[in-house]
Amino acid sequence: MSVPKAQLEAFLAELRGASPGLDVTTAEATLAPFGQDESGLGTFPPQALVRAVSTAHVSTVLRLATKHGVPITPVGARTGKSGGSLPIAGGVALSLERMDRILEVNADDLLMVVQPGVRTAQVDEAAEKLGLFYPPDPNSADACTMGGNVAENAGGPRALKYGVTRDYVLGLEWVMPTGEVLRVGRRTHKGVAGYDLVGLFVGSEGTLGVATEITLKLIPRPRVVKTALIPFRNVSDAARALSSVLTSGAWPRTLELLDEVALKAIAGQGLPTPPDAGAVVIAELDGNQDDAVLSELSAVVERCASWGSLEAVVAQDEAQRARLWAVRKAVSPALRSLLGQKISEDVVVPRSKVPEAIERFKAAGARQGLVVATYGHAGDGNLHSNVLYRSMDEWPRVEAVLAELMAITLELGGTISGEHGIGLAKKRFLALELSAPLRELQRRLKVFCDPSVVLNPGKIWD
Ligand code: LAC
Ligand code: ZN
Repeated sequence: MSVPKAQLEAFLAELRGASPGLDVTTAEATLAPFGQDESGLGTFPPQALVRAVSTAHVSTVLRLATKHGVPITPVGARTGKSGGSLPIAGGVALSLERMDRILEVNADDLLMVVQPGVRTAQVDEAAEKLGLFYPPDPNSADACTMGGNVAENAGGPRALKYGVTRDYVLGLEWVMPTGEVLRVGRRTHKGVAGYDLVGLFVGSEGTLGVATEITLKLIPRPRVVKTALIPFRNVSDAARALSSVLTSGAWPRTLELLDEVALKAIAGQGLPTPPDAGAVVIAELDGNQDDAVLSELSAVVERCASWGSLEAVVAQDEAQRARLWAVRKAVSPALRSLLGQKISEDVVVPRSKVPEAIERFKAAGARQGLVVATYGHAGDGNLHSNVLYRSMDEWPRVEAVLAELMAITLELGGTISGEHGIGLAKKRFLALELSAPLRELQRRLKVFCDPSVVLNPGKIWD
């Protein structure tokens, strides 16, 4: 899909006149990379790219887009997994990458104010200098940006103890799809005045507006972190152990699970696992007292042993911890390289259903002659089940497995997306989870905010 040339040119001409200093380009070579993200859902280059450096730029782009009926797709670092930043309707990609300043770090008030182009890892690095902590840690933290994290309500391994992006956004400067600039939320950690619009806008997948300033809550940084790699003979034992760990009294900040296919994908990357390991759990605990953290970690390891784990390895220093996490971060691309193609899901099931879910996902794959690998944030029931395949010839079977995965997830009382968002990837499944009245209410909200439907059209909803 694309916008007729004359319509686009009229929009761009008025935009250039109204926005001095705004970088507008239609050069194909520059546009090309903006047609892709990490979803693997295809290539949809925009017809033009604008790179905003100010809130005024963003506001003018959206005001004129509404006037001219030109689709706008906001884009950060293009690390999204659900196609949220793909300009599927053509039109204009609105890049926030140059709004990349940390505006304030306030240790006394435990907050930070950032522009949307600041990388997630930079936020935690800046917090760390003051002994503070920004916990959300999406796999792409070194590359992804806070604007994208806000749009998708990004999570990560530490969500188990600390929650997700939404739990840390106190306030937003927010540009509505009509160009109106709002300040929503607050600078205090508590506050209940009016409806929770921050809660609504965070995770709205770039369909209800664009964040131009983000006020983040910080918390004191735990001084001690200990990580253990706990191997199991098979994924069922590991999954059963996980549910039990959380009733042991210990509160790990991560309980990551890798099944036998994930282990095969990263073989040779130096994960210290015994040859008979068919799954591993990465348990990480934190606190302020060395002894206390170690004894909690031992409790977790012992609980796993009672479920048949093999001998655990505790990282002895920062370098070993970093190595473990580097391998964990490599799982997603490594799984893709096994057969060349994959679709990565991010379903969530109630914790107690994780063993059953994993078993049934694998069986669903096997019925279609396909392998389903499962890894991810199993401690909070959030499973990256990956359907592996070789070529598009297999797509009908892949699609059948995906549909079964969604059905099983919902039957077990879960949700179809725990962290990557609906975007383009899961639009066709949303009606399985949300009732017709709920879909209608949300569709009306979208049209109320964006009457001309110019902001990220075709995402979440048709
Ligand atoms: C992960 C990403 C894909 O956890 O969410 O690896
Ligand atoms: Zn994840």
